[in-house]
Amino acid sequence: LYIGIDLGTSAVKLLLMDEEGHIKNTISKEYPLEFPQPGWSQQNPEDWKKAVLGGIPELLASFDKSQVAGIGAGGQMHGLVVLDENDQVIRPAILWNDGRTAKEVEYLNEEIGREKLSALTANIAFAGFTAPKILWMKKNEPENFARIRKIMLPKDYINYILTGVHCTDYSDASGMLLLDVEHKCWSKEMLDLCGITEAQMPKLFESYEAVGTLRPDIAAQLGLPETVTVCAGAGDNAAAAVGTGTVGEGACNISLGTSGTLFISSDHFGVDPHNALHAFAHADGHYHLMGCMLSAASCNKWWMDDILGTQDYSGAQAAITDDMLGRNHVYFLPYLMGERSPINDTNARSVFLGMTMDTTRTDLTQAVLEGVAFAIRDSFEVARSLGLDIRHSMICGGGAKSPLWKKIIANVLNVELDTPASEQGPGMGGAMLAMVACGAYPSVQAVCDKLVRVADTVHPDPAIAARYEERYRQFSQIYPALKALYP
Ligand code: XUL
Repeated sequence: LYIGIDLGTSAVKLLLMDEEGHIKNTISKEYPLEFPQPGWSQQNPEDWKKAVLGGIPELLASFDKSQVAGIGAGGQMHGLVVLDENDQVIRPAILWNDGRTAKEVEYLNEEIGREKLSALTANIAFAGFTAPKILWMKKNEPENFARIRKIMLPKDYINYILTGVHCTDYSDASGMLLLDVEHKCWSKEMLDLCGITEAQMPKLFESYEAVGTLRPDIAAQLGLPETVTVCAGAGDNAAAAVGTGTVGEGACNISLGTSGTLFISSDHFGVDPHNALHAFAHADGHYHLMGCMLSAASCNKWWMDDILGTQDYSGAQAAITDDMLGRNHVYFLPYLMGERSPINDTNARSVFLGMTMDTTRTDLTQAVLEGVAFAIRDSFEVARSLGLDIRHSMICGGGAKSPLWKKIIANVLNVELDTPASEQGPGMGGAMLAMVACGAYPSVQAVCDKLVRVADTVHPDPAIAARYEERYRQFSQIYPALKALYP
């Protein structure tokens, strides 16, 4: 048996799976997310630890614990976790959707220069990336900065708790802006620039490599054998890509979680010359390009839970017929947390545009779903401009539970969308990586070939896709027109 950990932004989801891909059990444990100032986003690593260590015994309650062979995690990317000389957490983790580093991003991109950053790391600075957060800490919390002995990413903290090893993997490390992604080593120049040393960085592994086995005290606490192998795991997007079989040249996955991502796998290293898409290492040992929108399913959640005050998402979407798709007169910009790809603007904000006296609540609900789809299309257009001809994609994440949303996305992008038989993207990917680390499969490709099955396919409808083409042209003019109004 294998345990997959999906260390998300709202909860950790744990799954138990056998080597044949049968999911035996899943549980989820929520933890709080703090927004201490507008645009800031933090979480306490101790909460992740409690959720994981408390959750594993629950997950395993009615199973033979001696059968567990491996554990693998996919985790929210970019979060800055800092430990002191006693391996205690120094301050709350600054998360991937935190926008406090606008100044540091400007310094990196404008003064150090995009070209140099891209040459060193294959990427430019975005507010959520880890290096600008280190610079922020150095300037704003010098006493905390001075205490840093180890820097790591969220799932690496969990792997450290489980094994005692300070480790990370190439896919997640790619999002720090400290890794030379092409050559898979820390960039000395970037470390110098941030005032840190390689000794403060975790050891690098491929996602499917074993980093160690359980610490004896943790094994005893969890009731697991000390021989359980923990693999390096991956950033949640790379792990989700593994969970949906998105490996190899040109395979594509869309994740509709709190964030929305367009993930394009490649066997070769490549950089978007404008750096609008991230150029990262993949969990299969190769590379990928990725566009990340900061608010995807979270826009719909905000609209439903906070504004309409309902949990009945499918009820609210039931009135939206095929005939209405591509005919909505209302537009929504999904920038509730600012936006990363492709506009890289922490100050961007959401708007509804185009309401009239006969606009209904349903039109606004539809506009929210469409706004997210159009924003994914923005990254899709960048991929197209690089010559990538994507006709087909997997889709996963909470938002993929809505058949309507999938239909909108399939038509806005004009691609076929496949939903995998298991919805467990990052957790399943984590368990699959652990299988490779334990030798149950020879490669990530092999475990994907064996375990990933497609459950249903949404085909674009030519008439709806044509209407959306027109709507997208209009949508894409809104942000440039409003940009000057944002602070
Ligand atoms: C990717 C990103 C998000 C988080 C979500 O660059 O920031 O998708 O990984 O957990």
